[in-house]
Amino acid sequence: MKRVKIIGTGSYVPEKVLTNFDLEKMVDTSDEWIHTRTGMSERRIASDKDKASDLAVKAAHKALKDSGVTPEEIDLILVATATPDMFFPSTACFVQSAIGAKKSAAFDISAACSGYIYALSVAEQYIKSGKYKTILLIATEIFSRYIDWTDRNTCVLFGDGAAATVLKGVGGNKADGIISTLIYSDGKYADLLYLMGGGSSSPLTHETIDNKLHLLKMKGNSLFKIAVKNMVKAAREALTLNGYKVSDIDLLIPHQANKRIIDAVAENLELPKEKIFVNIEKYGNTSAVSIPLALDEALKGGRIKEGDLILMVAFGGGLTWGSALIRW
Ligand code: ACO
Repeated sequence: MKRVKIIGTGSYVPEKVLTNFDLEKMVDTSDEWIHTRTGMSERRIASDKDKASDLAVKAAHKALKDSGVTPEEIDLILVATATPDMFFPSTACFVQSAIGAKKSAAFDISAACSGYIYALSVAEQYIKSGKYKTILLIATEIFSRYIDWTDRNTCVLFGDGAAATVLKGVGGNKADGIISTLIYSDGKYADLLYLMGGGSSSPLTHETIDNKLHLLKMKGNSLFKIAVKNMVKAAREALTLNGYKVSDIDLLIPHQANKRIIDAVAENLELPKEKIFVNIEKYGNTSAVSIPLALDEALKGGRIKEGDLILMVAFGGGLTWGSALIRW
């Protein structure tokens, strides 16, 4: 069976920066409240012209360059997004055409903030089974289009961006590559985070728009507690399954939803702060993008070296959660 390696990464965030001070002028909030409750200082906002696929293509080009893979070599494009260009065709199909990946299949994966880990798990199976050799995985989100900019409970939290990863099946006896991916869901908590307007349960009408059903709804407080519990569980299960201890982890890359969630996970695992990658301050919660964006920054910033044990843990709407354990 082939080992599955990440051989290139790349990311793109829009130029426009929305700071906590900008938000102070829009809703009844303060830089102090946002920073102490979430760890965020600013986030990026896509221009009116940009679609999720446009951000994805920019990140994809960087990851392809980083990996040395050409578009013609790609067997499959997976796009993790909760904010696709449209219902169909998939955002992955738009990317496939834009980058000229002539022989590639393409589809989207919907698992909200856990989308990258879900897509990584799908890619792992396709490569391990021998079906595909080279997969381009991109997470892309423009949540700013689905936020109620008058609701201080949610509008301060989210940011836009895209991040891509190139995966390849490799032979030989080395121990590097993906060790395991674990994915989980519990749909009974669907009402904690959702966006229903425009779906078949709630086709768009003047009434649904007046009731703001086309915008994200979230019960942040309940989510917070479940997020901590499930991320800790996913982390521990990944370690136990593969015979590792918390002290073996070189870097934890958690989904960046709230710095307090990340701190609580770290405290629960008894993992020192220097072993956790956090960039929420600059980008806010970029949903499926947050883990691959953090991975790209960690790699480019020299925080990951060959042989390191990397644990990624995600949590998101669905509810969905999961982990990926990787030997670099
Ligand atoms: N500025 C000032 N005050 C605010 C703001 C704001 N931006 N937002 C809320 N408040 C107020 C509330 O109205 C409330 O006031 P009240 O006591 O008078 O009613 C008070 O602050 C406390 O509100 P809480 O909701 O209890 O605040 P909490 O400390 O829980 O922080 C937060 C809220 C940041 C949303 C937190 O609960 C959280 O991060 N939850 C997890 C969210 C999450 O993980 N979301 C993404 C999931 S991933 C995905 O799939 C997209």
